[in-house]
Amino acid sequence: MHNWNDDPFANLSSNLPPETNELTLENNQVKGAIIETATQSLPEASASSEEHIGTTGLEKIKMGARRIQVDDKKIINCRADLNQLVPFKYDWAWQKYLDGCANHWMPQEVNMTADIALWKSKDGLTEDERMIIKRNLGFFSTADSLVANNLVLAVYRHITNPECRQYLLRQAFEEAVHTHAYQYVIESLGMDDGEIFNMYRELPAVARKAEWALPFTQHLSDPNFHTGTVENDQMLLRELIAFYVIFEGIFFYVGFAQILSMGRRNKMTGTAEQFQYILRDESMHMNFGIDVINQIKLENPHLWTETFKEEIIKIIHEAVDIEIQYAYDTMPRGILGLNAPMFKEYLHFIANRRCSQIGLPEQYPGAQNPFPWMSEVLDLKKEKNFFETRVTEYQTGGALSWD
Ligand SMILES: [Fe+2]
Ligand SMILES: [Fe+2]
Repeated sequence: MHNWNDDPFANLSSNLPPETNELTLENNQVKGAIIETATQSLPEASASSEEHIGTTGLEKIKMGARRIQVDDKKIINCRADLNQLVPFKYDWAWQKYLDGCANHWMPQEVNMTADIALWKSKDGLTEDERMIIKRNLGFFSTADSLVANNLVLAVYRHITNPECRQYLLRQAFEEAVHTHAYQYVIESLGMDDGEIFNMYRELPAVARKAEWALPFTQHLSDPNFHTGTVENDQMLLRELIAFYVIFEGIFFYVGFAQILSMGRRNKMTGTAEQFQYILRDESMHMNFGIDVINQIKLENPHLWTETFKEEIIKIIHEAVDIEIQYAYDTMPRGILGLNAPMFKEYLHFIANRRCSQIGLPEQYPGAQNPFPWMSEVLDLKKEKNFFETRVTEYQTGGALSWD
C-alpha cells in the first residue's frame, strides 16, 4: 500500500529490460506487432510542434516489428506501442492501480439513516453547519466531474505509458464513484439538487475554484495540441501540477476537513464517511500525479527551469489565497471549535508539503498542522473507520458490514 509519506522516487525505473527479444516466426505472427515508430529514435525536444512524436495507442500495427523493451517506454512522447502493458517500467503506477482496486467502495454501502434524521430535524444542525454541508456538496458535486473530464479528455492522451494509463482509467472510475457519492448524499437528504448542482454557476465561493481550474485543461483538451516541444511539454507539466497538486491536493482540503470534523463530533456521520473514503482515494490520485510529475522531470530535466519553477510557485500562492477565501466563505463564523484562520494555517502547512513533494522550496515557513487527525484518514496502511472505531478493509470490494 502507498500513503502520502511514500518516497515518490522509491520504485522509479527499477525494472531491467528483458534479455531475450529475438523474434521467431510464431512470435512474429502472434506477439511481434509493435508500431513502426517504436524502432525510431526520439527526436530532440526542439522538434517542431507539427511533429507528433508521441503515440496514442491507435496507430496501425506493424507486423514483425521489434518487441518492446523496458527502455523503449517513456512517460511522455513515447513511440512504443501503448497497447502493451508489459514489460513494466513504472512499478509505482501499476502498484497504485492495484491499491486503488483494493480500496474499492460504493456510496450505497454507507448507511445514511442518521444523517437523514438529523438533516430533517428542526434544530439538529445550526444554519452555519447546514451552509457548510450545502456549499461543500455544491463544490464537490461538480468538481469531481471536472476532474474526470480533464482526465479523459485532456490528460490521458498525453501520458504515453500503458501502466500509467491503467491507473488513469481506475482514477476516472473513482471520480465517477465520487460524483455518485455526492449525488447520493444530496438525494438521501432530500436537498434541492438544482440548487446544489448549480452552485458553481451561481455562488462565487464555489465558482471561483472551478473558474481557476478550467484554463488548465483547455490546452490539453484541444485536439490540435501535441507534446514534443519544450513549450508544450511545460504546458503539460504545468497543467498536471494545476490539477493533481493544486485542485486535488489543495482545493479539496478545506471541505474535507470541515465535513470530517462534523463526523468526529458525531454529526452527519454517513456523509462524513463518504468523504472519508473519497479523501482516501484523492490522496492516492494526488500521489500518483506527483509521481508522474517527478518522473517527467526526471526524464526531461530541461523542462524544470528556474523561470518555470518561479511560475509554478506563483500559481501555488494564488491557489492558496483562493482556498483561504473559500474557508472564509464557507465558515464566516467559527463552528465546532474550528474557524477560518485555522484553515489558513492548515493550507499553508499543506502547500509547504505539496511544494516539497515536487521539489520546490517551502513557501510558508513554520506553518503547523492544526488538524493532525486528518493524517489518520490518509494513513492507508492501517485504515479504520474512526466514527465507529472499527477496522474496515476493502480488499475484495464486497459490501460493508454493519453489525
Ligand atoms: Fe474525486
Ligand atoms: Fe481525484
